[in-house]
Amino acid sequence: MSSWPWLRAGSRGTRPVCRNDSSAWRVMLADPIHADAEAWLQARCTIVRPAPGGPAAFGHALATCDGVIVRTSVVTGAAISASTRLRVIAKHGSGTDNIDVATATRMGVCVASCPGENAAAVAEFTVACLFLLRRPVIEGNRWLRSSQPEGSLVVAAQRAGLTGHEIASSTVGVVGWGEIGRRVGLAVKALGGSIVACDPRIAASRIAADGVRVAHELHELLAVSDVVTVHVPLTPDTRNLIGAAEIARMRAGASLINTARGGIVDETALAEALRTGHLHAAAVDVFATEPPDVAGPLMSLPNVICTPHMAGLTDEAVRRMGISSAEAVIDVLSGRSPQHPVNAYVSYPNGSAEHDLET
Ligand SMILES: NC(=O)c1ccc[n+]([C@@H]2O[C@H](COP(=O)([O-])OP(=O)(O)OC[C@H]3O[C@@H](n4cnc5c(N)ncnc54)[C@H](O)[C@@H]3O)[C@@H](O)[C@H]2O)c1
Repeated sequence: MSSWPWLRAGSRGTRPVCRNDSSAWRVMLADPIHADAEAWLQARCTIVRPAPGGPAAFGHALATCDGVIVRTSVVTGAAISASTRLRVIAKHGSGTDNIDVATATRMGVCVASCPGENAAAVAEFTVACLFLLRRPVIEGNRWLRSSQPEGSLVVAAQRAGLTGHEIASSTVGVVGWGEIGRRVGLAVKALGGSIVACDPRIAASRIAADGVRVAHELHELLAVSDVVTVHVPLTPDTRNLIGAAEIARMRAGASLINTARGGIVDETALAEALRTGHLHAAAVDVFATEPPDVAGPLMSLPNVICTPHMAGLTDEAVRRMGISSAEAVIDVLSGRSPQHPVNAYVSYPNGSAEHDLET
């Protein structure tokens, strides 16, 4: 590619190539970012915040901006189409399912993300969930405060059902051997556990080189895992990837972790399997609708750890993602490629397309 495509013509005509006066750049922070990143950005452009008032107000504010940084706010195709000034959408994170990338591509707007910046945070959180599902730490805490055991505390705890399982004796199925899944798998391996991984988009030999067993089919992984942990993006292919049929294939008494995206696991089917006892427990950080309804299928079950989409929330990760997404915006507005373009886009007025990583 000879020059950066998002500085070229989109289907709607030529977008303004870099304004040299950076103080004229207007960048919307659709969601808050780390104070260090905001200060860095503030020194390079005018920061705009969305006015309260829902999608219409968001759309109006976006139309006045050259760039936008989004965490979980939804950027619809309609908002992108109406924002003739917009040149870059930077995702503060890795999953871009809240951005209409196809429309951005068509309109000549660069979408950038910061993959890997929160991978350690999400992987560590997932491993924490894994421990909590294999060892009843939460239950033990609750039990001790609500009972007055007599005699041997260890024996009483055992009688109360507080015996767990070792990670070292467990088989963990990792669905998606990307930045996060691989880190989780290697952490489990370091603890002596067995890993079986499934990722049809990565060569089996590459996964095997990490010293883990490769499942060529998801069903193969489901059948042998004590805990299944999901680390795929939400795409049309992965929506309901783990539905009733897949859950039925899981081992009786197995557990499931979803720190990826709601919509990948069918919440109603999961709740049913937890209620009937087919599955032992689950940890769910992400929901099909966020925030989830407190009366939703999973929230009332005692054997589910429900957390508020917090797996990536460490100060370190939030700072890295803030800086990385701010840099991506300034890179594009300055005429440079962002480090991680999602849509390496070229759609010339004659309709030819050179390259398209994701639409
Ligand atoms: N809970 C949180 O706070 C949080 C934070 C960050 C990311 N996430 C989620 O975690 C997901 C994974 O992040 P990542 O950084 O590891 O992404 P990644 O792109 O590095 O890895 C995703 C992997 O999934 C694989 N994959 C795609 N479809 C698959 C399928 N049908 N079966 C098996 N594998 C498949 C891909 O080949 C890729 O290797 C993100 O897309 C995001 O949705 C959640």
